[in-house]
Amino acid sequence: MGEPVLRRQAAPIPESGFGSAALRSLVADMLDTMRDVGGAGLAAPQIFESVAVCVLEVRDNARYPAFPEIPLTVLVNPVVTPKTSGAEDEDASGIAVYEGCLSVPGLRGRVVRPRRVSLAAFGLEGEPVVAEYEGVPAAVLQHEVDHLNGILFIDRVDGKTLTYLDEYERNVPERERIQDRVPLVERR
Ligand code: NI
Repeated sequence: MGEPVLRRQAAPIPESGFGSAALRSLVADMLDTMRDVGGAGLAAPQIFESVAVCVLEVRDNARYPAFPEIPLTVLVNPVVTPKTSGAEDEDASGIAVYEGCLSVPGLRGRVVRPRRVSLAAFGLEGEPVVAEYEGVPAAVLQHEVDHLNGILFIDRVDGKTLTYLDEYERNVPERERIQDRVPLVERR
């Protein structure tokens, strides 16, 4: 936090870059970094590359033990659109997660995000990716795509919930760490 690259709009990868050696090498670096530090995801600006690429993966994650598994996902030029209406308004509700960020080390804070989103992106080779995410994976996805738009979770956090990690472990009960189907009006 404080590096200007984290606040810039990341540049889209041109079609000519899909599947390129440079893109492969960037993604390999991102996966190494994410796995080294135990992230649930990583965006290219976090390793000082201002391009619209992010990765997601959760598998027995020690930093986020309550997160469901997310398969390894590489997203190029992702666009996320919240689903803001649906049967019984369930789609319009939120997912609240005490988020952390490798670029904001040592802190957690409660962020409310739309619980269901649609994703349009490209894969590493330029293959179209269209998907829907809900719950915690939707929150992780939105956190990473925010990075590509120069947004950090502290911009969306309820400031009064910000906590250092030790205090998080001590003071935030498990049931409050992830809360599904909360009112979205809390969103910042
Ligand atoms: Ni982050």
